[in-house]
Amino acid sequence: MNEAVRNPAKPTPGPTKGPIIEIENLSISFFTRKGEIPAVMDFSCTGRPGEAMGIVGESGCGKSTVSLGIMRDLSNIGKIVGGKIKFQGKDMGELSDEELRSIRGNKIAMIYQEPMASLNPAMKVGQQLMEVPLIHDKVSKEEAYKRALDMVRSVKLPDPERMMRSYPHQLSGGQQQRIVIAMALLSKPALLLLDEPTTALDVTVEAGIVDLVKGLGEKFGTSMIFVSHNLGLILETCDRITVMYSGEAVETGKIKDVFDRMRHPYTQGLFRSIPLPGADKNSRPLISIPGQLPLPHER
Ligand SMILES: Nc1ncnc2c1ncn2[C@@H]1O[C@H](COP(=O)(O)OP(=O)(O)OP(=O)(O)O)[C@@H](O)[C@H]1O
Ligand SMILES: [Mg+2]
Repeated sequence: MNEAVRNPAKPTPGPTKGPIIEIENLSISFFTRKGEIPAVMDFSCTGRPGEAMGIVGESGCGKSTVSLGIMRDLSNIGKIVGGKIKFQGKDMGELSDEELRSIRGNKIAMIYQEPMASLNPAMKVGQQLMEVPLIHDKVSKEEAYKRALDMVRSVKLPDPERMMRSYPHQLSGGQQQRIVIAMALLSKPALLLLDEPTTALDVTVEAGIVDLVKGLGEKFGTSMIFVSHNLGLILETCDRITVMYSGEAVETGKIKDVFDRMRHPYTQGLFRSIPLPGADKNSRPLISIPGQLPLPHER
């Protein structure tokens, strides 16, 4: 008797247990009339299944460029000039356009700072949400409505039925961002990129979204990359952290490890510049980071 017959219930190997995303020595430049702007240089980090990786660093250090690089959405002047990005073990640089299209927006979804950039102002929220399962999973209208409504509940919006009947402009900024997150999750992505998802929102609304994002990894098993200039938010939401400074990853690893052995003066400054729980402002005053980030062409 052969192996398969003797062992009929033997499970087939599941999806790879390795990292979901590996970025190795990535360099990205923008080619402008004034010449090459090296926005990201020799950047490496790894994201693991079900974990959230935070990318933190000040304005202009290259955080968005890394996330757009992962989406291969660098406009016509941006180019990956070195290194590679592996998604679920596969080098994305070797995929065909068609394979890339099927990954983008399906297996990898991106959420931007400004929710209206991802919503159609002329279409009711429910209809926009229903389109995802209608197109993605080719389900019936009834099923699409049910899934959309369930997801509106999952992102903790009040009065889900009314939300579904509303136009985006009838919702607050925080509610719009929850709809965008719901829309991204309906396509069941393996990796969700969030680029400053709460920067356009006020702090109380921000806290709600952060709580929501925290629960999503557990509920849906989605891996996340959370881009922010706000270290406090990253510490609260993420398992791992990568600190960027002027286009480079100066620190990467589990939050605790990075905290224990931070090497780069920028990271040390960054951790000194935020309040830690229980700390006293007299014994541990907050210190701002002096100086300005060197511009890419004058590092
Ligand atoms: N389309 C572009 N053309 C030319 N230069 C660009 C372009 N996009 C980004 N850059 C440059 O690349 C560098 C990194 O920009 P990026 O937007 O990735 O920074 P960031 O860390 O996301 O900043 P922020 O926190 O302000 O969003 C900057 O110096 C920026 O000027
Ligand atoms: Mg940015």
